Amino acid sequence: MTRVVVLVSGAGSNLAALLTAHDDAAYGARVVGVVSDKASAGGLDIARAAGVPTAVVAPADFEDRAAWDRGLARSVGVFSPDLVVSAGFMRILGAAFLDEFGGRTVNTHPALLPSFPGAHGVRDALAYGVRVTGATFHVVDAGVDTGPIIAQTVVEVLDDDDEESLHERIKVAEREMLVAQVGRIARGGLRLEAGRAVVGRGWA
Ligand code: GAR
Repeated sequence: MTRVVVLVSGAGSNLAALLTAHDDAAYGARVVGVVSDKASAGGLDIARAAGVPTAVVAPADFEDRAAWDRGLARSVGVFSPDLVVSAGFMRILGAAFLDEFGGRTVNTHPALLPSFPGAHGVRDALAYGVRVTGATFHVVDAGVDTGPIIAQTVVEVLDDDDEESLHERIKVAEREMLVAQVGRIARGGLRLEAGRAVVGRGWA
């Protein structure tokens, strides 16, 4: 069984979808811990309701960014994860974290990367006027949403969309992609070959 830690900052709808999927042993992944940078994150309540242990690693409790990064790595490490899933985690993962969990940390982003990286992917795509957008599931590297892409899903932009309506439709497609891809990785492994993400040929 692949041990998964999920990082959340917000409502946790992606986490909720993973928790539903992991109830089936054939899924291959088990969410063994949920870690947030915010004590108020709705995702923590979802985890608690599912009986999954949680931890909060708030930047305000650390001297600087690097110390927070080390603290995050420590808290995640307590759960001995095989895979770390950033699902609505609104912070950049730094060197200390990636030294420990690089290559097995993945992120879901609400736009078709490499377009519209960063904290406002939905708003930026809407403002640009693209006719399609979507979500990208990728390996986390040292850049902002720049790591090797594992999967993408496309969502049409409607004429009367605002940020909220578009994000809600993206999230429906995003959840489906996330659950499917985390399951594939759990059952088949994830490795990087020549800078590309490869799922299903074992762990690196
Ligand atoms: C998701 O759409 C995720 O892609 C996005 O936040 C949402 C979290 O929703 N992440 C980012 O924008 C990261 N740059 P959730 O808390 O309901 O799962």
